[in-house]
Amino acid sequence: MLLDTCLTVQYRGRPSVLDQLRLAIQPGEIVGLAGESGSGKSTLALSLLRLHESGATLTGRIGFNGTDLLRLPPSAMRAIRGRDIALVPQSPLQSLNPCLRIGAQLHEAWHVHQPSRDGAERIRQALADATLPTSADFLRLFPHQLSVGMAQRVLIAMAVLHRPKLLIADEATSALDLITQSEILALFRRLSHAHGAALLFITHDLAAAGDLCARIGILHRGAIVEFAPAEEIFHHPTHEYTRRLVAALPAQLRRPPVTATT
Ligand SMILES: Nc1ncnc2c1ncn2[C@@H]1O[C@H](COP(=O)(O)OP(=O)(O)O)[C@@H](O)[C@H]1O
Ligand SMILES: [Mg+2]
Repeated sequence: MLLDTCLTVQYRGRPSVLDQLRLAIQPGEIVGLAGESGSGKSTLALSLLRLHESGATLTGRIGFNGTDLLRLPPSAMRAIRGRDIALVPQSPLQSLNPCLRIGAQLHEAWHVHQPSRDGAERIRQALADATLPTSADFLRLFPHQLSVGMAQRVLIAMAVLHRPKLLIADEATSALDLITQSEILALFRRLSHAHGAALLFITHDLAAAGDLCARIGILHRGAIVEFAPAEEIFHHPTHEYTRRLVAALPAQLRRPPVTATT
C-alpha cells in the first residue's frame, strides 16, 4: 500500500473535522474523493502533507510507503513534500508567485530537492509532459500572462518535476471551463500512466471524479461514508448521502464514461 491513513483532524473549537478517516491507495492508482463544500477535502489534502494550519491538531496515522508521516521530524517531512508527494492546488493563478517568471519558479521548485544538479532538462521534460511550450520565451513569462488553464498546467509540471509517487489534486479542475477541465483530466490520466504515480483526485464534482477515477470515496462530514468502484457509486450507491449526490447530477452525467477503467 502506498498510502494508508487513519486520520483525525481537529481545529480549535471544531472537533473532528476529519474523524478517523481511512484512506488506502495502491501505487499508481487513481482514486477520487468527492464531497460537498465544507466536508473536509482541503483539510485532508493539506494534512496529508502536514501543511495544516497551526490551529489544527492531527492524530492517528498517515502511512506512506511504510513510514508514518505523523511521526517524522519536520526536516524529513520537508524532504518528502514536493518530491515523493506533490500537491496540485485549487487556484492556479493564486498559487504561482506573481513577481517571478515561470522559469524561475520551476528552477526554484527543482533546487529545493536537487540543490547541486542542473534542472533544465527535467524542467523541459515536465513542461512537455504537461503539454506546455518548452521554449525560452515561455519560461520568461509571468503568471499574469497565462490563461488559467495554462497556469494549472504549469502547477502540474511543477508537481511532476521530481516524479512523485503520489499526486494530490485538490479541486484542481474546479476553476476551469469544461473543455479545459476535460483536457486537464486527460493530462492527469496520461501522467499517472506514464510515471506510475498514484493520484488522489479531490473534488466537489462527482462527474469529474467518475470521468477519471477507478475508485471513488464519498466524503461526508469528515468521514468516508462509501468507497467503491466508480461504476458502483453511480449505479448502485449504498449510502443514503451517495444516493443524493448521484441523484443531484444531470441525467447524462449519472454514468461514468467507459474510459473510467484505469
Ligand atoms: N483554519 C480553520 N479553523 C477552523 N475551522 C476550519 C479551518 N479550516 C477549515 N475549517 C472548517 O473545517 C471544515 C472543513 O473545511 P475544508 O477542509 O476547507 O472543506 P472543503 O475543502 O471540503 O470545502 C469546514 O467546516 C471549515 O469551516
Ligand atoms: Mg476545499
